[in-house]
Amino acid sequence: MTDPVKPKPAPASSVTGEILGDIATKRRRPEPCAIVIFGALGDLAGRKLAPAFFNLMLDGALTDPTVIIGLSRGETTAAQFAEHLKPRVAEFSRQKVEATAWDKFASCLDFIGGEFDNDATYVALKARLEACKTKGTRGNRVFYLSVPPSVFPMILEKLEKHGLVERAVQNNGTPGCRVIVEKPFGRDLVSARALNEMTGRYLDESQIYRIDHYLGKETVQNILVLRFGNSIFEPLWNRNHIDYVEITAAETIGIEGRGTFYEQTGVVRDIIQNHLLQVMSLVTMEVPASFAADDIRDEKAQVLRSVRNFDLNEVANFCVRGQYRGYREEPGVAPDSQTPTYAAMRFQIDSWRWQGVPFYLRAGKSLAERVTEVAIHFKSVPLVLFKEEAAGSVLQPAVLTLRIQPQEGISLRFVAKVPGESINVGNVHMTMSYADAFKRPIAEAYERLLLDCMRGDATLFNRRDSVDRAWALIQPVLQVWEATPGVHIYEPHTAGPSAADEMMGREGHSWRDLVPQG
Ligand code: BG6
Repeated sequence: MTDPVKPKPAPASSVTGEILGDIATKRRRPEPCAIVIFGALGDLAGRKLAPAFFNLMLDGALTDPTVIIGLSRGETTAAQFAEHLKPRVAEFSRQKVEATAWDKFASCLDFIGGEFDNDATYVALKARLEACKTKGTRGNRVFYLSVPPSVFPMILEKLEKHGLVERAVQNNGTPGCRVIVEKPFGRDLVSARALNEMTGRYLDESQIYRIDHYLGKETVQNILVLRFGNSIFEPLWNRNHIDYVEITAAETIGIEGRGTFYEQTGVVRDIIQNHLLQVMSLVTMEVPASFAADDIRDEKAQVLRSVRNFDLNEVANFCVRGQYRGYREEPGVAPDSQTPTYAAMRFQIDSWRWQGVPFYLRAGKSLAERVTEVAIHFKSVPLVLFKEEAAGSVLQPAVLTLRIQPQEGISLRFVAKVPGESINVGNVHMTMSYADAFKRPIAEAYERLLLDCMRGDATLFNRRDSVDRAWALIQPVLQVWEATPGVHIYEPHTAGPSAADEMMGREGHSWRDLVPQG
């Protein structure tokens, strides 16, 4: 029997939040800084980066002067750049765009028009960065590469040639020089390794911030707090008590006009290789020595190393690909495209803690509901006392659901006695909603990540070894799927292809339902 992913109606939180410690004292302000966005007229800059900087400014989290320099081809002035961003920020900002605040934000914006391969662009950039330094940025700079990975090498080479980056360990007291790179970091294992080699020639690992915005989500960060900040979960967090784990990232949207990009990418590179494997590593890693960046990243890398590699012959049994009907009619998509917009995979982790526990990951576009969550299914009780209930499938094992988005929260389903003379049991849900518990707005992931990079904190960014390992894990799947056609077509706004249910059904499990119960 399945359990609805979206309970109807969402139960209000009965949990009251109490904030421990003084939040203000834990906040470390970044140094004044110049941020250079390559690809500043692109979708990401308007949808995520500019709104994030705007909200950081409204929250007083930035230090004056912070200068944001857009860089793209074309003849755009700083004022035109601000005008270009304004409607996008108005649409995507979590806080309202008032005139005075906008004017202040616009005064932090600058723009350089130029080709990425033209030395003149970098000469102009150098002059602009010098001017920022005079204004007080102290030489601190972040280069945000919001461009396809194929362009990274050329940009880094030019930055180095013009003395804008130098390979150096980032220490307190020396000017920060950091580069943020967007996913997908490479196209496959070989290209990702080549990219890592190349970036390593120009930059020290401490200067490279590989962004995975899932790691900036509050609810994703809470996975570690839930696990290691409470003594009641960790003793159960292993193969003795957990039957299986589901990790879902379902979206209702399609590819939103990004046909050309998506044809090159597909759901495995877009979501599973990065977002979902990162979430899985946080759910499964061992206790880190501290919350320091490398202690956490060591444990994440370690658990990814323990994930069993797919054998090429196993891909058909443990991986399912789907494509929503209508995808092939989208602009930029081949009429016979085999690109998956949905994928489900079963991973195994060969470790003392997880041996034998299947991890089912699924992600897809144009599905019935938007929901990202981790569902931990606990084992059944021995059936000595409840034979009748078990026969009628009433007695379902407990499920702990970590709701990443939307309706962020945590819920526990367990059985309880139904009031009455006889022993009847029913399922109950106990739910904590972030919105109700702490009554604090949840910041966008990019706000946190941009701020962390300016502060020189790499905890929530991906390290080279994890990225490499994640590519290695999905490499056999890419290899088999790209060599053999066989994508399952599914109807839009459903739960995806039935082959994914069959894959799980063969092991006696089923996906949580994406459709609200009617
Ligand atoms: C991005 C993908 O990384 O994540 C998009 O490229 C996807 O295809 C998006 O829509 C989902 O992010 P979120 O935060 O809305 O779950």
